[in-house]
Amino acid sequence: MFTQEDNERLCRVGPGQPMGEAFRRFWIPFLLPEELTADGAPLRVRLLGEELIAFRDTEGKLGLLDRYCPHRRVDLFFGRNEQSGLRCPYHGWKFNTEGKILEMPAEPENTQMLQDTRIKSYPIIEWGGVIWAYMGDPAHQPEKPPLMEWATVPSTHRYVSKRLQRTNYAQGVEGGIDSSHVGILHGRLDPEKEHLPFRQKQVSPVTTVPYLAMDTAPKFFVRPTDHGMTIGARRNASENEYYWRITQFLLPFYTMIAPQQDNGTVMGHSWTPIDDHNCWVFTITWNGRRPLSAEELSYSTVHTETKDDGSYEPLVGAAKDYGIDREIQRLHTTTGIDGIGLQDTAVQESMGPIVDRSLEVLGSGDAAIVRFRRMLLAVADELEKTGEVSAANKPELYKVRSAGVVLPHGVDFQEGAAEYIHVK
Ligand code: FES
Ligand SMILES: [Fe+2]
Repeated sequence: MFTQEDNERLCRVGPGQPMGEAFRRFWIPFLLPEELTADGAPLRVRLLGEELIAFRDTEGKLGLLDRYCPHRRVDLFFGRNEQSGLRCPYHGWKFNTEGKILEMPAEPENTQMLQDTRIKSYPIIEWGGVIWAYMGDPAHQPEKPPLMEWATVPSTHRYVSKRLQRTNYAQGVEGGIDSSHVGILHGRLDPEKEHLPFRQKQVSPVTTVPYLAMDTAPKFFVRPTDHGMTIGARRNASENEYYWRITQFLLPFYTMIAPQQDNGTVMGHSWTPIDDHNCWVFTITWNGRRPLSAEELSYSTVHTETKDDGSYEPLVGAAKDYGIDREIQRLHTTTGIDGIGLQDTAVQESMGPIVDRSLEVLGSGDAAIVRFRRMLLAVADELEKTGEVSAANKPELYKVRSAGVVLPHGVDFQEGAAEYIHVK
């Protein structure tokens, strides 16, 4: 039983909260590079419940500062991004990307205040197709962000999109590691079989993987690892073979989707917490060996179309019931909602921003999410007891990827798929 108290501990990400403090020990992806241009408009940022302002200065250096001017608390969104610094429009205090105050034009020249005052600032880097922040204790700042394969491949081998989801991050992670929903939520139905029972009219959502629809009740094997966990979802493939979808959960909020072929293009998500009730869903498609084809990019509906007003809200969101079409739902798909990413968002947002986990009735398909919750609570415990979060300082642990493989009965899935799931 997951109590309300556990739920609070899992979901609260603000400063001073156990999980919020643990997350602050990791580098966190939170912006796309194109959101900031040199001397361009500063960007309001909410991250782990903090109000911040991001900007790119004249030389291209990135800054992430307190959103409010330390003088009299003006919103620096209205600041002037000029000549290597951001100037507050009220009395002209000017800040560099490191939070140092360069000028106070309304004060006497050489005022001591210039040395004594700073604005809160966090380290921020551009790497692997996203912009990352570190918001924790400087003494514990990891040297590098996690070395996930998608971040280390050439930019031609990767595509990153971003969308806003109005839920706590944990609800997203739980959808990302829950392979038992794939054949159902994302399932297609055969309209010719309208009158048959649900299981018999299902067609695999992924045409090259017929096993998903053949066996909608996979058996889950959850293995804790130093990076988080490796999950094997086993389905029947033939008389003496199983089809394994092997996916990883990577601390603190990354998930992966199994590819369609053994060595195929992989997808994954970062469920970056904006605050307790919202997260950025970064969706990444990548291939470790070759550039992505145009077809691969257009094929995937895991990336969701978003508004182009900077909000990254889905084009057709909750206000329009995600565009649900009851006729399509009756005949062709489980949801009547178009696109895998939007189907995920619809069900996850429908639970409310923080689902009351004490009311759930969990089944065997929920083994991975039960483990995920306990694992995250253990990370918060580790920080409280030892002052450390060990996974945050081991970027090498993140060199893993998901796989979809057929293996003979009796072969351990981690051993049988070793060549696919370990990134060299
Ligand atoms: S409020 Fe920003 S300089 Fe005065
Ligand atoms: Fe999904």
